[in-house]
Amino acid sequence: MKSTKRYKPCDLIIFGALGDLTKRKLLLSLYRLDSSNLLEPETRIVAVDRVVQDTDGYLKIAQKSISEFLPEPLDNEVWVRMSARFTYVQIDITDAEQFKKLTSVIDQKKRVMVNYLAIPPFLFNHICSGLQKSKLINKETRIVIEKPIGHDLKSSRQINDTVAAVFAEDQIYRIDHYLGKETVLNLLALRFANSIFTTNWSHNTIDHIQITVAEDIGIEGRWDYFDKSGQLRDMLQNHLLQILTFIAMEPPVNLEAQSIHNEKIKVLQALRPIADYNVEKRTVRGQYTKGYIKGQFVPGYLEEEGANTHSSTESFVAMRIDIDNWRWAGVPFYLRTGKRMSYKRTEIVVYFKQLPHNIFKDSYRNLPPNKLIIHLQPKEGVEIEMLNKVPGIDGAIKLQQTKLDLSFSDTFNNQRVFGGYERLLLESMRGNSTLFISREETEQAWTWVDSIQRAWAHLSDKPRSYTAGTWGPNAADALLARDGRTWED
Ligand code: BG6
Repeated sequence: MKSTKRYKPCDLIIFGALGDLTKRKLLLSLYRLDSSNLLEPETRIVAVDRVVQDTDGYLKIAQKSISEFLPEPLDNEVWVRMSARFTYVQIDITDAEQFKKLTSVIDQKKRVMVNYLAIPPFLFNHICSGLQKSKLINKETRIVIEKPIGHDLKSSRQINDTVAAVFAEDQIYRIDHYLGKETVLNLLALRFANSIFTTNWSHNTIDHIQITVAEDIGIEGRWDYFDKSGQLRDMLQNHLLQILTFIAMEPPVNLEAQSIHNEKIKVLQALRPIADYNVEKRTVRGQYTKGYIKGQFVPGYLEEEGANTHSSTESFVAMRIDIDNWRWAGVPFYLRTGKRMSYKRTEIVVYFKQLPHNIFKDSYRNLPPNKLIIHLQPKEGVEIEMLNKVPGIDGAIKLQQTKLDLSFSDTFNNQRVFGGYERLLLESMRGNSTLFISREETEQAWTWVDSIQRAWAHLSDKPRSYTAGTWGPNAADALLARDGRTWED
């Protein structure tokens, strides 16, 4: 992975500059990068949207959005520096002619053009052909696209084909913002920089692995999008499967993008299919009903604004995944993710195997297994649960389960943890695609998810209800209980 601080300055073009993603995430991330002196002095930002507006008008909107999401007051010095980078260009992207307006504001001799598409995928073709017709694409030009890259294999191929018609694969940066999270990257360090984990990372020592991505928020006014998608497509197809590939992949030969992508693809290819024959045993779908979260009343899924009251879209999914390869044979991966759960929590728990023989059996019939717990959010950290002798000299040895606790904020002296979008924006400007997703990965993940979606469509039952503010339907507990296990709660 290239880590040089300096990189060629960019013309970062944001299509959809007045959209939700730009206002909520991109502007704030650019502000933070600028405040950490991570934007090259010559880098320029071109905000593109269809609304008639001048740059000063846009800057007022941008400043308001940043201030709204920034926990501390806006630093005027940073804002003055950042605002000098901006030009607003009004373009109706359905009119290819209008892309010519960009030629006078960018400079491809001095800067690399990075096109960030913060717009829905059905508009990607307009951007691609508009840029091409105005001869704005050269070998260095990049395009950054966001999920959802389709809602199944067929539609994702169409999107990928549209973009591939004018950009080569190494110019395309597909974002999954989870890959920008500090702790997801730390999985590489944990696994491949520590011999205790490199040698203890397989079916020989690991019993099973759990991945939980719980959200306390609901669908946040996005009924139209979410109801067509559901938690399987919205979260599991991308974020959870990406985490899974980082945990399960073989050691890459180096940190170059191609090496990492190759290993991730092999994991996705080894996922045992879930289809009609095993879907009921392997998966659980849930949908939240009204309840309380942190003492606040929240409506059920079918009572959300704009809801279709007959919807059977899942807001929760839990499943058992088997990876059919040498390393993971016989080690189940249990994944669960849901909206309106008790609280926001993303974590990975690795359960090590029971010892083959227990010399403490006079006092302890079963010794609890060691656990490695990786907290991704809200607080980053790593814990190892292990047994220790309680100090004392009389009688039998007394054991107690204790934790080796590596909290990032304590260990790294409250050093700022960069957000996913900050890191990924920066890497796209640096031209490092290691943390982005290749076409093959997206399509492999869709192939696997499509099979589940088809099998669900054949089932007569609907998603199980769960009360908002809980950990999902009882059936999710039963999924693990069948294997003699419980969720880490
Ligand atoms: C997005 C999903 O990709 O990730 C949202 O579309 C979800 O539904 C969000 O809420 C969760 O992201 P994070 O970083 O808050 O865990």
